[in-house]
Amino acid sequence: MWVFEEKLPSGEKLTDVINKTNENVKYLPGIKLGKNVVADPDIESAVKGANMLVFVSPHQFMEGICKKLVGKIGKDTEAISLVKGMEVKKEGPCMISTLISRLLGINCSVLMGANIANEIALEKFSEATVGYSQNKEATEKWVQLFGTPYFIVTAVQDVEGVEMCGTLKNIVAIAAGFVDGMEMGNNTKAAIMRIGLKEMIKFSKMLFPSVKDSTFFESCGVADLITTCLGGRNRKVADAYAKNQGKRSFDQLEAELLNGQKLQGVLTAKEVYEVLSDRGWVEMFPLFSTVHAISTGRLPPSAIVQLGDSRYF
Ligand code: 13P
Repeated sequence: MWVFEEKLPSGEKLTDVINKTNENVKYLPGIKLGKNVVADPDIESAVKGANMLVFVSPHQFMEGICKKLVGKIGKDTEAISLVKGMEVKKEGPCMISTLISRLLGINCSVLMGANIANEIALEKFSEATVGYSQNKEATEKWVQLFGTPYFIVTAVQDVEGVEMCGTLKNIVAIAAGFVDGMEMGNNTKAAIMRIGLKEMIKFSKMLFPSVKDSTFFESCGVADLITTCLGGRNRKVADAYAKNQGKRSFDQLEAELLNGQKLQGVLTAKEVYEVLSDRGWVEMFPLFSTVHAISTGRLPPSAIVQLGDSRYF
């Protein structure tokens, strides 16, 4: 397991502590990792000889990570991405699985789902979805590798749909956090989640016409949307942002509340907004655009229920 090296307040290196205690004391305290998990701060040595690679870093770091791996990965290696997000380039949006495939020249599936990490670590029952495009044999291996009696993995042939679900629901979770922070109640929160789900489906299909409706009923779709809007980090930080009436920035709140973990929804809202404005779609996505406007301070958190023309939701 490659680990970005950090010095802990004790002065020790994070990887040394993980290897000594079998515990990621900073990011997953209280959970014992398998004894076969070895933390390695050197990414090249961590991937050496690997034929299955699992990517699970905040999406903003993925391009830099992949660039370090160019030329270091065998062509028959299979990858899977648990990373929820996209990169927006001049030539258009690029999903993280595509970034991995393009930069490393390998096949990449995705795994997304209603998967708050601490609950999985405590072995509480949950489900996940593997999205794949072509290699059925590799997909079966991923399902076997991740599946346990308390973690049910289902594969669907819709890599873009699965990845879009995981990515876009983070924007809706920011909206749900605003609703919570302003104490607008459960009816409002349900309305925001419904409108958000419709925008998720519409945006995914406009970007990738092959995306299937059925994917939104898998764990990666409606289930992940629900868990993230109830208990995720995006919800938590947006709740605090609204309670502070936007006086503390998302960057400040992220640093205060997430102990070094990174928020995905605010950046994703910005990336999606770039696509919307580039293609003239802003009006059609009132919730996504309003989340971006609020999180950048152009509108107050109360604007989350002033979405304009209801034809679009
Ligand atoms: P947060 O990043 O909002 O914690 O969401 C977690 C998640 O993606 C659950 O599947």
